[in-house]
Amino acid sequence: MSTTWLLTGGAGFIGANFARFICETRPDVTLINVDALTYSGNLENLAGLENHPRHEFIKGDVRDAQLMRELIDRCDAVVHMAAESHVDRSIMDSKPFIDTNIGGTQTILDEARKLSSTTGSKRVLLVSTDEVYGALPLDRPDLLFREDTPLAPNSPYAASKASADMLVRAAHHTFGMDVVTTRCSNNFGPYQFPEKVIPLFVTNLIEGRKVPLYGDGLNVRDWLHVIDHCEAIVRVLEGGTPGDVYNIGGNNERSNLELTKSILDLMGRGDDMIQHVADRPGHDRRYAIDASKIKAELGWEPTRSAWPDALVETVAWYRENEGWWRRVKSGEYRAFYARQYGA
Ligand SMILES: NC(=O)c1ccc[n+]([C@@H]2O[C@H](COP(=O)([O-])OP(=O)(O)OC[C@H]3O[C@@H](n4cnc5c(N)ncnc54)[C@H](O)[C@@H]3O)[C@@H](O)[C@H]2O)c1
Repeated sequence: MSTTWLLTGGAGFIGANFARFICETRPDVTLINVDALTYSGNLENLAGLENHPRHEFIKGDVRDAQLMRELIDRCDAVVHMAAESHVDRSIMDSKPFIDTNIGGTQTILDEARKLSSTTGSKRVLLVSTDEVYGALPLDRPDLLFREDTPLAPNSPYAASKASADMLVRAAHHTFGMDVVTTRCSNNFGPYQFPEKVIPLFVTNLIEGRKVPLYGDGLNVRDWLHVIDHCEAIVRVLEGGTPGDVYNIGGNNERSNLELTKSILDLMGRGDDMIQHVADRPGHDRRYAIDASKIKAELGWEPTRSAWPDALVETVAWYRENEGWWRRVKSGEYRAFYARQYGA
């Protein structure tokens, strides 16, 4: 049976990969893709889908209640991933994070709930993050984030995402809404905005510039290929228990220093290209996900995230798509870059 999903934030990194993945693999799904095209939304990420019969792009804001109502009315389910997504930006100015990540999520929940009285309940999936759990210590490799780990967000970004999670939880508890939440670890892959570490470092090295490494570089992240994330979102959307949370992780923990050295190796450059910079304020030490629930309940496991192959493939994508990232880097990004890292 065919179905229509509303995708929010679908011109960003994960959203564009999700749109491409669905158009390629799901002939039964039509996507309505709404995105405000902020600095990180880029229609070039959707190149080739302009005339796709099962993909419609609409420029719009998730805080626009009337628009959300019209779009949700046309859909059977919502995959909500529109967000302000960069921790460093949230440290400079948290307001857009509060407005979009919290306000936008509540707008979608409100409009979906109002419609449910006339059209039946529409499932809303919130794409959240492992950052809502706070940080794990480096000296306790046995500790992992589980779905019942208390939320302890440490950055304004993480706090805004945790707030959205709580609003989704409340919508289920208070109104019986059909909602599910995914909490994923760090993604990598094509079309990632070059303020995030992997595309930033690869493109800097191509430009002959050094790579800025925060603090001692020992902070650990669990890296997941973006298409593994997209597959997991689909599993949860279609099979997750109403009201539940599902962790998604790559079982692929790497320190930032290890990641940096791997990228330098792949680019044929040495440690002299590392520029040590002051640590990010409140920088979480380690994130690590226990993804056993989604495996046991929905049969999902990462299949594309294994290193070194997945990293090699991703580095190659940025090398082969120089026009794409050069156009991104030459825009508003430059001003941010100067404020963040100095000239
Ligand atoms: N990138 C990761 O590693 C990661 C990991 C876990 C969870 N997430 C979550 O996944 C989602 C997508 O992240 P991403 O890395 O693709 O981010 P991104 O910044 O690349 O994309 C976000 C998209 O949302 C759009 N957007 C922002 N504000 C909007 C608004 N008010 N209305 C409509 N659209 C708006 C932007 O234009 C952009 O296209 C976010 O919710 C993020 O919190 C990301």
